[in-house]
Amino acid sequence: MADFDLVIRGGTVGTASESFRADVGVTDGIITALGSNLGSGTREIDATGRLVLPGGIDAHCHLDQPSGDGSICADGFESGSRSAAAGGTTTILPFALQMKGGSLTEAVKDYHERADGKAVVDYAFHLIVTDPTAHVIGQELPSLIARGYTSFKIYMTYDDLKLNDRQILEVLALSRREGAMVMVHAENSDVISWLTDRLEQAGLTTPIYHAVSRPMPVEREATHRAISLSEIVDVPVLIVHVSGREAVQQIHTAQGRGLRVYAETCPQYLYLTEDDLAKPGFEGAKCLCSPPPRDKANQEVIWSGLRNGTFQVFSSDHAPFRFEDPAGKMLHGTDASFRYVPNGVPGLETRLPLLFNGISEGRIDLPTFVRVTATQPAQIYGLSPRKGSIAIGSDADIAIWDPERKVTIANADLHHAVDYTPYEGIEVTGWPVTTLVRGQVVSQEGETLQSPGYGTFLPCERPNPPLPEPSLAVR
Ligand code: URP
Ligand code: ZN
Ligand code: ZN
Repeated sequence: MADFDLVIRGGTVGTASESFRADVGVTDGIITALGSNLGSGTREIDATGRLVLPGGIDAHCHLDQPSGDGSICADGFESGSRSAAAGGTTTILPFALQMKGGSLTEAVKDYHERADGKAVVDYAFHLIVTDPTAHVIGQELPSLIARGYTSFKIYMTYDDLKLNDRQILEVLALSRREGAMVMVHAENSDVISWLTDRLEQAGLTTPIYHAVSRPMPVEREATHRAISLSEIVDVPVLIVHVSGREAVQQIHTAQGRGLRVYAETCPQYLYLTEDDLAKPGFEGAKCLCSPPPRDKANQEVIWSGLRNGTFQVFSSDHAPFRFEDPAGKMLHGTDASFRYVPNGVPGLETRLPLLFNGISEGRIDLPTFVRVTATQPAQIYGLSPRKGSIAIGSDADIAIWDPERKVTIANADLHHAVDYTPYEGIEVTGWPVTTLVRGQVVSQEGETLQSPGYGTFLPCERPNPPLPEPSLAVR
């Protein structure tokens, strides 16, 4: 009789703080031993020359998310999770979206129906709160948080999603009372709308003008405001998809003042620039996302923020809109104003290799990679210690990497249902060859080995201690 169900033998284990040579023993889907010369496994994987890393947690992706404009997500839980697994990701957190005027509880029920029986990796839900009525704040959110939906995104822009400052304060105050985590899409809506109108009046509507409608101060001001509102309520906040220097400076300054401000960035801000939006014809729409990609100097600022700990989370913000599709980027045709192009780029499968390439290029080290792609997202969103670490007692969610493999990214090789990748032709060094969820191989050299439904729903813990209302005493 074997000692373990599975032994991953001879690899180098990477954690958020160090790497060391060790075998990994797995029993009943849980890591039960780490050490040299472990006993036998019913199954064994030879990881000699490989890195054995925690499977990635993609804490920001959009799958089968309903829209108000007729656009359709090409990826649901099946293709999205298959693509995630092929890219070394073992847990995904997409969003259950409340429509304005609608119920959040119903949105969660509907989203479970969209997910049930489809995923091959584990998943939890963030919520998107678009209508924080007294009922939502007083009843729905407390009940949903108690049931494991403990993080929610709010928007400062997009007419059908955005909250005003007073509503943001209400959501932040609720988050403080309940120990939840608020994620903020920080862009100034009125400035975008004013600039968009002016650009359209001048006939400047091609994809590059999307970037012109969202200059850095748009993001800087909203980031500053979101931080200020969270400071007033005295509650942690997380700024999502940070694109460049000016927002980074706001976050870094706030962190230096001791505020609990967390930040996320994404591959598009490391590898794309606004020149990609200026490609001829409608081609730039492939890279159109919000905030927009900036320039090379800003890419360096984002790399530096990953190195120095300004960012805790590295996500894909996978937004799977097909290019050649009247329900995707071409929703209103190729001559339509940038205003009508669905925002976002795909990236579930390429997120980890693109960041890992930063190790190969000497930009970040391995512990930083593990921290921002797995360990810290798990901690911040209430999935730790079950997820995000290679540690005894944690789920055996593991990606085995060939650190030397050179891969030229090609959409034809990816597993999502999108008809393009904005990273086509980029060569990266390092690729995940085997992805295991709870000790079972889900993806091997790009081949999916588990059936839809293998992935299970994960209720999240409250990431923060619930606290009473902030003091109203004279300061
Ligand atoms: O452009 C983006 N980021 N699209 C996805 C939706 C969002 O705001 O995250
Ligand atoms: Zn957003
Ligand atoms: Zn997003």
